[in-house]
Amino acid sequence: MKLTPIAAISILATLASGLELPDLTPRWLVIRPEVGVVIKEDWPTTSFPAAPAEVSRSNGQHNVKTLLCFVVPPCSGKCTISFTDPLTATGSRRLQLFTLGGCPAACKTTWISKPYTDLHKGTFQVSNTGPAAVVEDFGLTFNCPNIVTKYGFELMPVWDNDSVTWDIAKGGLIITCN
Ligand SMILES: *[C@@H]1O[C@H](CO)[C@@H](O)[C@H](O)[C@H]1NC(C)=O
Repeated sequence: MKLTPIAAISILATLASGLELPDLTPRWLVIRPEVGVVIKEDWPTTSFPAAPAEVSRSNGQHNVKTLLCFVVPPCSGKCTISFTDPLTATGSRRLQLFTLGGCPAACKTTWISKPYTDLHKGTFQVSNTGPAAVVEDFGLTFNCPNIVTKYGFELMPVWDNDSVTWDIAKGGLIITCN
């Protein structure tokens, strides 16, 4: 059989769309941060590794924040940001979550060079084990992206005395798709 170019293209297009039929986009995922950086008000030009991640404040001073970058793959569900299983938690045990105007860079981002703080997404009150209580929710659940998307987040302390640490590979802030 001899095909005109047009017919060949249309057959190829049919084959291509046929190949897309099994939808491999996952519907359930736990996404952990790719990058974690700790920044400290008292060391404004030093970048600290998130080993562990830390958010703290002592007598209203010495602010320590954690910046995270999540790389979320395509997922055909709702994405929910939550916090779970800290290493330690004392004081108010509260964490305010903001979006960042970009992702932090490991070994590079500092107190004074961090991307700008954007939207307040919510506040967690950490439990010693298990999931944190959601104290405020200004958009912790959203439609998951359909292309790979990076999200930068900033976690900061609440009230005068607060200290929370966590292992970003095992707990802390996660995004689930379901
Ligand atoms: C925070 O800690 C300081 C020093 O221990 C204490 O003086 C202050 O009252 C505490 N603040 C609160 C709100 O508990």
